[in-house]
Amino acid sequence: MEINASGRALGAEVTGLDLSKPLADGDEKSLRAAWDEHLVLFFRGQDLTDMELMAFSKTFGELEAPGKNPYGDGSPFIPEFPLINVISNVKSDEGKPIGNLGDGEAVWHADMTYVANPPKGAILHGWEVPVGQGDTQFSNLILALEELPADLRKAIEGRECIHDESHNSAGMLRAGYEEIEDPEKTPGPHRPFIFSDPMTGRKALMLGRRPHAYVPGLPLNESEQLLDALWAHATQEKYVFTHKWQKGDVLMWQNLWVLHRRDSFDPAARRVLHRTQIKGEAVSA
Ligand SMILES: [Fe+2]
Repeated sequence: MEINASGRALGAEVTGLDLSKPLADGDEKSLRAAWDEHLVLFFRGQDLTDMELMAFSKTFGELEAPGKNPYGDGSPFIPEFPLINVISNVKSDEGKPIGNLGDGEAVWHADMTYVANPPKGAILHGWEVPVGQGDTQFSNLILALEELPADLRKAIEGRECIHDESHNSAGMLRAGYEEIEDPEKTPGPHRPFIFSDPMTGRKALMLGRRPHAYVPGLPLNESEQLLDALWAHATQEKYVFTHKWQKGDVLMWQNLWVLHRRDSFDPAARRVLHRTQIKGEAVSA
C-alpha cells in the first residue's frame, strides 16, 4: 500500500489495495492514520458490491443510515441495504429517481451539521460517472481556521451560527419544512464557529452551509457580510482539493474538518454513486 499526498492543502491517493478484500491489520491502521492526516482519501479502480463497500467502511467506525429519501414515501433507495445511500440523477423506467441530489450543483457544505451528532465521514463509490464532469471539491477547514485573518477571528469570538436543517445540499426543501425567506428565522441549532475535537484538541472552522445561515444577535446585513467573508476565506483555491471522477473510484472524507461541494453535470449523462456514512460524536451546542 502507498499513500501519495495530492500536493494540495488536503487529499491523498492510496494505491496497492483491493478494497473488496479484508484489509490486513497494519493496512487498517495506516489508512485510519492517513485519513486523519489528509482528511480526504481516494482509491482508483475498485469494484465493490454494496456488502463490500459496507465492510470496508466499517474500518472507520459504525455506519448509520443516510438522511431520509426525499422522494416517494421516504423509504431507502436500496430497500435490502438501508445503510447505503445512492447519489444519482438516473430515473427508473417509471420515472422515479433511483438516487438523491439530481444533476445540479451541490453548494459548499458539511453534511448534517444541523443534527446533534453529525456524521464523522462519508465514503462514495463510483459505479457510473461521466468523465470530466461532476467534480467533487473539498476545502481544508483546519488550515482555514489557522490562517483566519485577525479581524474575522475577532468577529466570530463568542458568536454562533444557525445551521439550517430545512434544506439538503442541493437546496431541496426537506419533507415537513416550509420555505422561509428571512434567515433570522431559519430552523436549526446554533453552533459556535470553531469546532474542537475533545479527544485531540484539533480545531477547525465550523460553517455548515451558507444558504439560510444567520449569526444571531447581529443585524441581518452584518450577519450576511460576516458569513460572506468567512465563506470566501474558507473556500479559497489554496485550501481546495478537486477530485476528478473515474468509474471505480472510492472517495472518502472527514465531514467536520472539510467542506465539500459538487459541480453540476450534463443531465443526459448517467452518474451513479453508492455511499456510506460513518457515525460521529455529539458536537457542542
Ligand atoms: Fe454532502
